[in-house]
Parts: sequence; structure tokens; C-alpha cells
Amino acid sequence: MNILAVESSCDETAVAIVRDGRQVLTDCIASQVPLHRIYGGVVPEIASRKHMEAIYALADQALAETGMVRKDLDAVAVTYAPGLIGAVLVGVNFAKGVALSTGMPLIPVHHIRGHIAANYIAYPELKPPFLCLVVSGGHTMIVHVKDYTQMEILGTTLDDAAGECFDKVARVLDMPYPGGAALDKTAQSGDDTKYTLPRSRPGENPYNMSFSGLKTAALNLIHHAEQVGEIVDIPGLCASFSAAVSDTLVPRVVMAMEKTGLKKIAVAGGVAANSRIRRDMTQAVEKLGGTLYMPPLSLCGDNAAMIGAQAYYEFLAGHTADMTLNAYATKSILGEAL
Ligand code: KG4
Ligand code: ZN
Repeated sequence: MNILAVESSCDETAVAIVRDGRQVLTDCIASQVPLHRIYGGVVPEIASRKHMEAIYALADQALAETGMVRKDLDAVAVTYAPGLIGAVLVGVNFAKGVALSTGMPLIPVHHIRGHIAANYIAYPELKPPFLCLVVSGGHTMIVHVKDYTQMEILGTTLDDAAGECFDKVARVLDMPYPGGAALDKTAQSGDDTKYTLPRSRPGENPYNMSFSGLKTAALNLIHHAEQVGEIVDIPGLCASFSAAVSDTLVPRVVMAMEKTGLKKIAVAGGVAANSRIRRDMTQAVEKLGGTLYMPPLSLCGDNAAMIGAQAYYEFLAGHTADMTLNAYATKSILGEAL
């Protein structure tokens, strides 16, 4: 089954063609990142307009790259939530137009389910059940993936997402948007014991976590140093900060592995590209005799291939939509596709 998949929830316009959920025939991306960089973050109105400008050409490019014509496609899939509402709407309306004009089924995909499904592309042997640490710009949670379309959230951030914190600290350190990757690179030459930063303590639900205290502590440290004329050891701060984020995430995943007895662990989302988190997860999962699945960096960030992968399983579960499909800024990863 060849699925034309569309992703436009944030600052990447992407169109892919994915066969049977696992084989990526083409994965086309038009990144808006350089455009938003001058503003230090995504400007939603600009994002929507740029998606509109790029999406048709990208779909044509996807067909041209695979040598396919419209009748070679079996369905159209689209991220319908969550994201910047105007941006998501562009993809949803485009996909509805394609479905209406071709008569193909329309498959709505939750963006975070897509991130998890990036692992199906990278690891053709991976099947649920498994645990997934989801770490992106807007979400941070530990998910029990019971089946391809059946999930349980074991724990979630109670405030900021990990990616948001990386970006905020990076911004104050004058790193270009989105700062997570730049902060990660700088951290690699730093001493992770240079600064003492707080780790969120387990609350009522031990899998839940918090990042706002850590973010505030890092920002206060930078501002205080500026005020008293002290020089911040930037690589040391980046390394200490990355260590604190990882120390918040990894022990909770270990606890979830021990509690559920699940030995297969996946990581998903833009922050899954973080070298400290990848290193600590590798060590922790190895120690427990588990198997770790981490998408290559190219599949960690937003892309349409992951939407096409998840769409296949949504389709098999009967989760298709009609022309009343809407876009949503927020939506739980649980529940059916609609
Ligand atoms: O999943 P994603 O592409 O978009 C959302 O769905 O939110 O995640 C983007 C986030 C940004 O906050 C970005 O700074 C962060 O992922 N990120 C990183 C790294 N690469 C991307 N954060 C830490 N270390 C990285 N290497
Ligand atoms: Zn994403």
C-alpha cells in the first residue's frame, strides 16, 4: 500500500511516499527554519503561508522522484494534530483536496504517534508492545505502546517540554533557533559537573517530570553572571544542563522498564537527537539487558515519512476520515485518530 503523507504542523513542510508503513520511497522536506531564525522562534502566520507556497510543489516532487503517477497511490495521510493551528490546517486542507479529487482514503495521523512510528522505518523488525520515550519541542512523555494504535501514557511533563527548555536556554546563550542542536554540540566539549542544576524529584506519579525549575535555574545562573560581570563557562553550562535533562528522563524510563517488564525501548522526537540522552539511554538499557531503538538523526525531527509509517497502521485499524476532518492545535495521543 503506497501512502502519500503530508506534515505541516510546525516549521517544516514535508511530503513523503511510504509503502506498507516501513519502506520510504521518498521523503521531501522544505524547511522554514532559516526564515524563522531571524525572529528567534516560529512565527505562526509566516509558517502557514510558507506551507501553502511549498506544499503543492513538494507533492509534485515526491511523485517525480519516485516516477509515480497519482494512480500508483492508495491513500493520503496527514498530520491533523497537534501543532500550530494555521500550519496544521494547510496540510489537512491539502490532503482533503487530494482525497476528494482522487477518491483515495484520507488517514488522519497524530503527530506524536508519527514520531514514535519513525522507529518502524529505522527498525523493520520492531513491533509493539514497547516503551517509548517521546521528547520533542512540545511534548515529553513515557508511552507504553501496547499496539500500533493503542497507547498508554505512563508519565508526562507537568510543565515545559524538554525541547522547549533546550531552546530557551540556547536562546539566552545567543545560539541560533532552534537552539537544541547547537547547545548539544557545545556541550560536547564541556564539563558536565561544572554547574549544579536541579533534577525534578518524583511526585505522586513517579513517571511524571518537570523541567521548568531546571530551565529557570539555568536562566538565573546566566543572568546573575551577567549582572556581576562573571564569565559563564558556556560549554560547561551546556554539558551540565544536558546532563540534568537526561538525568530527569532516563531513570524514569528505567523505572518503567522495571515496572512493566518490557525490554524493548524506543526514543522519539526532535530531542531524541540529543547526544547525551542517546548515550545515557544506551548505557541504561544495556545494563537492564533491553533492546534500544533510536531513529537516525534524520528521522528524529519533523518529517512526513513518519506520518506515512503510522498512517499505514491507522488505516489497518480502520481509522480513516471524511471531508469533515478538522485540524487541532492540541489533541491527546490516546484515543482513536479522531
Ligand atoms: O520533534 P520536533 O522536530 O518538533 C516538535 O514536534 O516539537 O522537535 C524539535 C525540538 C526543538 O526543541 C529542537 O531544539 C530539539 O528538538 N532538538 C534538540 C536536538 N536536536 C533537535 N534538542 C537537544 N539536542 C539536540 N541534538
Ligand atoms: Zn515533531
